[in-house]
Amino acid sequence: MKKKIFITSAIDYTNDVIHIGHAYEKILADSYARYEKVINNKKDVLYTTGTDEHGTTNQKAAEEKGLSPKDHVDEISKKDKEEIDTLNISYDRFIRTTDEDHIKIASDFFQKSFDNGDIYKDNYKGFYCEGCESYKTFSELDENKKCKNHPTREIQELDEENYFFKWSKYEDFLKDLIETNKLIIKPEGKRSEMLAFLKEGLRDITVTRPKYKVSCGITAPNDDEQVIYVWFDALINYFTEGSQKGYWDEDTKIVHFVGKDIARWHTLLWPAMLRSAGYRIPDVVYVHGFLNLEGEKISKSLGNVIRPTELVEQYGTDAVRYYLLKFGPIVEDSDLSADHFKEVYNGELANGLGNTVARLAKLAEKSEIEFPVKDIKLDEAVFKPMEDYRSDKVIQNIWSILSGLDKHINENEPWGIKDKKELEEVLSEELGVLRKVAKYIEPFMPETSKKIQKQFDTLDIKAGKPLFPRI
Ligand code: MSP
Repeated sequence: MKKKIFITSAIDYTNDVIHIGHAYEKILADSYARYEKVINNKKDVLYTTGTDEHGTTNQKAAEEKGLSPKDHVDEISKKDKEEIDTLNISYDRFIRTTDEDHIKIASDFFQKSFDNGDIYKDNYKGFYCEGCESYKTFSELDENKKCKNHPTREIQELDEENYFFKWSKYEDFLKDLIETNKLIIKPEGKRSEMLAFLKEGLRDITVTRPKYKVSCGITAPNDDEQVIYVWFDALINYFTEGSQKGYWDEDTKIVHFVGKDIARWHTLLWPAMLRSAGYRIPDVVYVHGFLNLEGEKISKSLGNVIRPTELVEQYGTDAVRYYLLKFGPIVEDSDLSADHFKEVYNGELANGLGNTVARLAKLAEKSEIEFPVKDIKLDEAVFKPMEDYRSDKVIQNIWSILSGLDKHINENEPWGIKDKKELEEVLSEELGVLRKVAKYIEPFMPETSKKIQKQFDTLDIKAGKPLFPRI
């Protein structure tokens, strides 16, 4: 068992402020980080998120607003951080690729790979999608010659002198890494997908862009007419913080949470880059699906973007976390609709959790009996799905404990028990379960967990305000 754990989410482009789809990943990674800390009592947990501020997407967004790239990325990055903070994300560092330490470390990393003979100069002629910040082959375009992920953007046709990374050299290494699970890719379907992609063969990839075309970037250490390609630069963000904090050694479990569109970069390019520069490979890449809104892809051009702050204002932080963790795109794409959200809020939070808490607090207060807090033993089986990073399944387990508790209350009718001893027995059993539930939900709904613990982990239990007022 490794002593330390390093957890990351992807860093978001700063062409626009993040929406609820981006936020899903931060909540997912946060629930895992908190689980390791509060349930497994791990002391050495590092969690990073941040912003990816170089490349053409960011540069064009700044130009459109008539701002300097720096002013533009400063503004968006600040807003992104506010969006993430509203969700109570427990990151240790919000890293920006324009941070001084990252610029230095990314440049040194590039140099190492260059010194090891893995970077060479050549001409690139082909397509480039600025939305993906990625080179495309003809077969990856749709029938209108547009990128399938960004059909509203013009595809760029590049013909330029760049530096290439010898990606193809690492094919066998990557195949072995994934087949032997030295790099674990979850869920299983994504692992097979990455292996299938690898089977088609890798072509060397350009890892710089000429400065006269892309000004937003880190100058290549071997050629000051070139900037480091935005993906090569961005992936290194993990190493920047991990290596400086002592979390890039063999005694650290490194887990990356990423969306399905960027799985290849993390499972195929990133390990090859690390190998080339002489650093260790991460342990796990967890790949989640996409969140849609009312049946549509979330997109600026469709005008259906929802920011985390808007949802939080309406329902509160923990309700948003709960909904997304339980019904979000943990494996397959999922859909968020206002009706479903309300239904879940009223049914599982106002009613389910909120109602059980309110009932038991009232019963305990009225009984005038003291219920000492016993040593709480958590049931490990509840968290078993967390081995596969399945917060959704853990939450389902907790909610079935809650409905068992509700059933117990209904069947035993403590409000009608006259015998004090009997009442004490029934209520202490029920309070014991609730006190556990309060602890169980801490990784997912930290504030609510704290509120319930404060209310019940005392001899003086009192009825309080509803946790989730009905809407
Ligand atoms: N900047 C790159 C990542 C570099 S990581 C070294 C990037 N940025 S992004 O802003 O486009 O996306 C950030 C993350 O949000 C990605 O993991 C992406 O898959 C995820 N999501 C973007 N839209 C999403 C949904 N609608 N739903 C769920 N996740 C989504 O890619």
